[in-house]
Amino acid sequence: MKREEIFEKRLDARHDELRWLYMELYNNGDMFAELCENIHRFALERDKELADLDREREEDPGWFRKNDMLGMMLYIDNFAENLSGVKKKLDYLSSCNVNCIHLMPFLESPKGRSDGGYAVADFRKVQPELGNMEELADLAKACHKKKINLCMDFVMNHTSEDHEWAKRARQGDGEYMSRYFFYDNPSVPGEYDRTVPQVFPTTAPGNFTWLDDMGYYVMTTFYPYQWDLNYRNPRVFNEMMYNFLYLANQGMDIIRIDAVPYIWKELGTKCRNLKEVHTIVRMMRIISEIVCPGVLLLGEVVMEPEKVVPYFGTVEKPECHMLYNVTTMATTWHSVATRDIRLLKKQMDIVNSLPKDYLFLNYLRCHDDIGWGLDYGTLGSWGMEEVSHKRFLNRYFTGSWEGSESRGELYNDDPVTQDARFCGTTASMCGMESALYERNEEKLNNAIRMDLMLHAYMFTQSGIPMLYSGDEIGQLNDYTYKEDEEKRADSRYIHRGKFRWDLAAKNTDPKTSQYKVFAGLSKLEKIRRERSVFDSSAAVYTYDVKDQAILGILRENEEEVFIGLFNFSDEARTAWMNEPGVWTELFSGEKMELVDVSVEGHGFLWMSKEK
Ligand code: GLC
Repeated sequence: MKREEIFEKRLDARHDELRWLYMELYNNGDMFAELCENIHRFALERDKELADLDREREEDPGWFRKNDMLGMMLYIDNFAENLSGVKKKLDYLSSCNVNCIHLMPFLESPKGRSDGGYAVADFRKVQPELGNMEELADLAKACHKKKINLCMDFVMNHTSEDHEWAKRARQGDGEYMSRYFFYDNPSVPGEYDRTVPQVFPTTAPGNFTWLDDMGYYVMTTFYPYQWDLNYRNPRVFNEMMYNFLYLANQGMDIIRIDAVPYIWKELGTKCRNLKEVHTIVRMMRIISEIVCPGVLLLGEVVMEPEKVVPYFGTVEKPECHMLYNVTTMATTWHSVATRDIRLLKKQMDIVNSLPKDYLFLNYLRCHDDIGWGLDYGTLGSWGMEEVSHKRFLNRYFTGSWEGSESRGELYNDDPVTQDARFCGTTASMCGMESALYERNEEKLNNAIRMDLMLHAYMFTQSGIPMLYSGDEIGQLNDYTYKEDEEKRADSRYIHRGKFRWDLAAKNTDPKTSQYKVFAGLSKLEKIRRERSVFDSSAAVYTYDVKDQAILGILRENEEEVFIGLFNFSDEARTAWMNEPGVWTELFSGEKMELVDVSVEGHGFLWMSKEK
């Protein structure tokens, strides 16, 4: 079939729904016609190799759900200076068993006002120090040769104040002002502030910024230099879709839709998760299925489970392909601090009961802070009250709680709500930093054991695991951000340090902690990749072993039953169970019986039995 015919076929199947949604939101036939013309143009401009890949993936719609999928997120400059540097390091990434890389924001963004690249000044230009668009497309090609998928952010809620639209708006051009939210007096901003919560209460309080030169307030949900886009204006939607397709056509496999719940604003509401957001995401999904069906949408919805799940859409009308398993991530660390897995088990039961089509991205940490968004209703019924529990968690992870070996810093410690969040690397949170500082071998081994246990648990969850660059060698917190004027106020930089190639070089020396973490993770990743029981299609349940510190997870398919036991306590505990037959512990290769099994402190067992 010719490209044109393929396009017509895809469009025909989806045109009516797209038109319906567009007209419902914008009621503007001319702008819809313009959108369709551009969709056509982007579809035909798509590189032949990408178009072939699209067709391959259309025929294998589950291509991204397999058990070999392993992601890693990294900052280009921290990892390899620039895009061509990343290309040279693809062999290293393959040696980490990674086949999907999320390049953290790399589009043009003003120095010192970039929010780690999340304030985009030009959606079609790479930050010059990092390279250019040709190098991006070239990297994507090199990745595809190695069967690595590439993911990038699409920051659609706002632009930088240095974006051309913002500059023109600032000059008073009404056409461009209508792409943002401007008010010449504090009345409407004040009304919004009554219902809209704050994202950065300490580092960027409020939801509006007064522009003295202009005599206007502009809506800035995040930092004052990130101006919220007004999606009521169809020009904004159309242009942002063209930017999205332009980036997809550079060879991206996954587009992470940044801060998606925030993109529609309505006075008198919290301006989060409004129904129009879903109309927009559904339209994006349809548009991508017409132009670039090989591209996946990953939604960033850092909210409680009942707010996250709707972003999958329905099975008939899907929205995002993948979402972050954020509550499970935060609950994991709660379990580390409390040595109590009851809430985690409950949370996993919720996730496991969702349709298998819903694919979660699992992670222990990402580039952002950990917010303590836990199920306080349940915790309350167990006598744990929200404010004091958050205070406990923050004291625990900053290491000021008796017996805690964790190290890290608070983030946006809000004196009003007392709602501080937390920042630190996985290894530092597991106690490797304090153990190395104290030169305490035993503590170090305990910390490494916990780090491996947490990764083994993450690999066992239902969904796709995502590592944070540096975690594969147990990289510690980096305090040098405090010396940098532009970063000092944002403690998220503590876990966004430069990748330590000098330490990575030690990952072959069995005496080092880098080796112990790297080799341990490698082994787990290989086991996971080789066994279909880790495929997203396998059944996954929690498995009760009658001990509050041991989490049990059972996975099952036609070939194999797998039981993972994860001890969140620092002491040896017994998993009370009685499973017939002889089982193999996959990590050690030992054969054993599954009758009242002892699991060492912060240890894990990966038990398997063929059917
Ligand atoms: C997302 C990003 C975060 C950024 C924010 C604003 O939440 O993960 O790093 O600050 O969006 O774009």
